[in-house]
Amino acid sequence: MTPNPITASLEIAAERGGDLTGAVYGVLFAQHPHLQAFFCNDTDGSVRGEMLAQFFEAILDMAGGDYYGSALIRSLAVNHDGLGVAPDVFPLFADAVQAAVREVLGPLFVPEIERAWQDMVGRVHALAAASVCA
Ligand code: HEM
Repeated sequence: MTPNPITASLEIAAERGGDLTGAVYGVLFAQHPHLQAFFCNDTDGSVRGEMLAQFFEAILDMAGGDYYGSALIRSLAVNHDGLGVAPDVFPLFADAVQAAVREVLGPLFVPEIERAWQDMVGRVHALAAASVCA
């Protein structure tokens, strides 16, 4: 079975770039320096690593049958709102992951993959926004 574009892009990224953690947070903090302060206690990077791992888990599921991925994003949005991370910050993170994948894939980041990522960033944003009272 052909994998969907999100799964395919992450498989290629894993083969080519290995661990994407440095690239993702590099993009996120370069584009939104104020977000760095949220991680002042994450001295060993374990929170950032776990966040990215759960993000991948959620979107890989959402790109397939969506058995629990959307629910995971919704519950994390509620939990993060309590930490002071507003739902509007979720698409910034998703977008930074997209940018890191795009960089690793280069010309293999074809329009079909780009469309799937843009759709996924939108879904993550909509789920987060719908989970938290304005
Ligand atoms: C879809 C996006 C996100 C997912 C899936 C996610 C997931 C997670 C998970 C699983 C943890 C617990 C990690 C652990 O304790 O080992 C966590 C903690 C945390 N996340 Fe996120 N996160 C997301 C977005 C964000 C964003 C955008 C920010 C802020 C820029 C953020 C800031 C934090 C902080 C500060 C903690 C540590 C909380 C604490 O000290 O207990 N997260 N996140």
